[in-house]
Amino acid sequence: MTIIMILIADSLVFAPHSQHSQHDEDYPSQLLATEYDYIIIGGGTSGLTVGDRLTEGGKHSLLVLEYGYFDTQVNMAPRRMFNITSEMQPNLRNRTFQVGIGCVVGGSSIVNGQVFLRGSKPEYDAWKELGGPNSTWDWNGLLPYFRKGITLSPPDPEISAEFNMSYNSKYYGKDARVYATFSGGRPEPFMKNLYNAMAKMPGMTIPEDSGSGEAGLYWYPISQDGTEFKRSSSRTGHWDGLNRANYEMLTGAKVNKINFNSDKKAISVQFISRNDSTVPPVTTKARKQVILAAGSIHTPQILLQSGIGPAKLLKEYNISVVEDLPGVGSNFQDHSYIPQIAYKWGITPNGSLPKRQDRNPWGKSVPPTLAAMIGMPVVSPEKYEALSKAFENQDPASHLPATYTKDQIEGYKQQQKVYSKLFREKNMQWNEMMMFGPGGSIQNLHPLSRGLVLPPKNDLNAEMTVDYRAATNAIDVDVMVEIIKFMRRYMTESDLKVWAPEELSPGVAVTSDNALKDWARDMINPSVYHPVGTAAKMPREWGGVVDEELAVHGLKDLTIVDASIMPTLIGATTSMTVYACAEKAADIIKAKTGW
Ligand SMILES: Cc1cc2nc3c(=O)[nH]c(=O)nc-3n(C[C@H](O)[C@H](O)[C@H](O)COP(=O)(O)OP(=O)(O)OC[C@H]3O[C@@H](n4cnc5c(N)ncnc54)[C@H](O)[C@@H]3O)c2cc1C
Ligand SMILES: *[C@@H]1O[C@H](CO)[C@@H](O)[C@H](O)[C@H]1NC(C)=O
Ligand SMILES: *[C@@H]1O[C@H](CO)[C@@H](O)[C@H](O)[C@H]1NC(C)=O
Ligand SMILES: *[C@@H]1O[C@H](CO)[C@@H](O)[C@H](O)[C@H]1NC(C)=O
Ligand SMILES: *[C@@H]1O[C@H](CO)[C@@H](O)[C@H](O)[C@H]1NC(C)=O
Ligand SMILES: *[C@@H]1O[C@H](CO)[C@@H](O)[C@H](O)[C@H]1NC(C)=O
Ligand SMILES: *[C@@H]1O[C@H](CO)[C@@H](O)[C@H](O)[C@H]1NC(C)=O
Ligand SMILES: *[C@@H]1O[C@H](CO)[C@@H](O)[C@H](O)[C@H]1NC(C)=O
Repeated sequence: MTIIMILIADSLVFAPHSQHSQHDEDYPSQLLATEYDYIIIGGGTSGLTVGDRLTEGGKHSLLVLEYGYFDTQVNMAPRRMFNITSEMQPNLRNRTFQVGIGCVVGGSSIVNGQVFLRGSKPEYDAWKELGGPNSTWDWNGLLPYFRKGITLSPPDPEISAEFNMSYNSKYYGKDARVYATFSGGRPEPFMKNLYNAMAKMPGMTIPEDSGSGEAGLYWYPISQDGTEFKRSSSRTGHWDGLNRANYEMLTGAKVNKINFNSDKKAISVQFISRNDSTVPPVTTKARKQVILAAGSIHTPQILLQSGIGPAKLLKEYNISVVEDLPGVGSNFQDHSYIPQIAYKWGITPNGSLPKRQDRNPWGKSVPPTLAAMIGMPVVSPEKYEALSKAFENQDPASHLPATYTKDQIEGYKQQQKVYSKLFREKNMQWNEMMMFGPGGSIQNLHPLSRGLVLPPKNDLNAEMTVDYRAATNAIDVDVMVEIIKFMRRYMTESDLKVWAPEELSPGVAVTSDNALKDWARDMINPSVYHPVGTAAKMPREWGGVVDEELAVHGLKDLTIVDASIMPTLIGATTSMTVYACAEKAADIIKAKTGW
């Protein structure tokens, strides 16, 4: 086998790196092969997970093309984030929002909040229902990959006994270098009061582990290692220290096209320098497979640039259609939240009080954290039935984008069928309350509205426009109101009432559902930085983009492995599920490509 080497003149940006460096910019210029077995687009959370697995054993060559750079710092500083502001949201008082996504080696796992949660069983089982009779994308099909992907450091036995910190190692594995830990701190004693009061809320359950797929009240891990308490990311887990000659990465490389042969087989990838427009575009061949892992915002862009997407839209950009897939960029979902239902204690509790921790600095041990993750029958015993019925009977065309095709509307109808049932399911993580008290943030983890991620008019290569289309389905605001009322019951009717909690906002004067809705529209943020769904794994006749093997419908040897494949949101922060899906994807690709 001859590998033709090309020299790319004096460009630091185009130097491939096969080993970890602590420095941001001092890489030697090197040679780049023109052909690899696999090319991965995006060296983020999913991309590096798959990259690690496919280069195990050293037999196959693989190149990761990553827009970002290596960076020793790990938080949301501008240079590690794409600079995207959402479209104005008319149902949220015309506000705009930051669209947070990492652009750095390791992707969003480098900048995220490290809350390391898993969804509940029915949320994964929904993916199977939306996938067809032979789907293996359900809780049982994913659990082995959660085990393969994540290693748990158990909590300190004394602290876990004192605070009833339940966990069960069977939901994790021992071999992965991506770690979950309860960290090294000790919770403030007052957490016991928050815990016990929540445990007594009607319908509340306490699962044996935050990763057991059961909803309820639980202490949860963060993505840190359990010895040095450093951020655990796809970079530390699936790149640093591997030093494999067959595992290469090129940073500062912006992919703008996947090329196909007449058989519709993906054969090569074109990229440009991120910051040096004098460097001409480079095309590199993939012998076996092109793997798209650019995240939920940019995966649709690269598909469109390659002629894959709604034919009508592609024509507007004068792009010749390789595959007409209307679902590209549609079905966009994110968790929505209200940052603060604010209370103060009328009677100050004894001792020091728990507070929200900054988990971003490396090497910091923090107290373990507690969440209540609860289904709508527990959130709102009075209203859940009426709300689920209202959803069940909705005409989807009344709130979906006008561009939706018949197939896409059918796909949403299928989601509607599954989710109006899950609305009545107690074991669903529909609301998330992070518990620091008094009051705190609340989340609606299953918005029924669907957004769009599309390029701006006239320029397919410019940054994507992100439209959450928040609250286009008005039931999302109704749900938020019920969650506020649950928080009120918890603060004022539980054992916490001995500390005489006083509501500061929305405030006791705001009582009617309509007044609460009004307030909610001022406060809701449509993103918790968990974008999914823009290249959904659903049948083609339901507007899906990838099949059960994550291969793009109608094409050969193009697989998508990032968060965009999730057909519906899970009721949990997304990174752990991205790791599990990527582990499963790697096995699928191995089986398919004679690895
Ligand atoms: C600020 C923030 C906070 C979050 N908090 C949490 C949390 O607390 N807990 C949790 O579990 N999850 C959290 N998440 C979400 C979670 O991190 C993401 O869902 C997950 O990391 C997404 O993985 P991905 O592989 O889909 O995409 P990413 O990890 O974002 O990877 C995509 C990669 O593709 C690269 N790329 C994009 N376009 C191109 C191109 N044209 N050419 C080459 N490369 C390209 C990007 O630079 C990036 O590195 C948070 C995310 C953010 C941004
Ligand atoms: C982000 O983009 C806006 C315009 O869209 C610009 O004004 C701003 O300076 C940019 N911020 C950074 C940090 O690049
Ligand atoms: C929102 O913006 C639209 C279009 O610019 C405008 O017509 C409308 O009055 C605005 N609404 C509010 C509440 O500001
Ligand atoms: C499901 O699997 C069965 C048995 O392997 C097969 O006969 C059937 O065609 C499959 N159905 C679909 C929709 O793939
Ligand atoms: C402690 O957690 C277990 C689940 O592991 C639960 O069954 C039990 O009720 C909890 N105890 C208290 C006192 O909350
Ligand atoms: C591109 O970015 C790299 C890394 O930050 C830097 O070293 C290089 O000088 C930049 N090139 C240009 C043309 O700005
Ligand atoms: C597409 O081509 C037409 C006709 O040549 C031209 O008028 C139009 O501006 C082009 N559109 C884009 C987005 O390039
Ligand atoms: C606070 O401490 C005092 C003195 O130890 C005790 O009398 C009181 O009951 C405590 N109050 C609460 C609410 O725990």
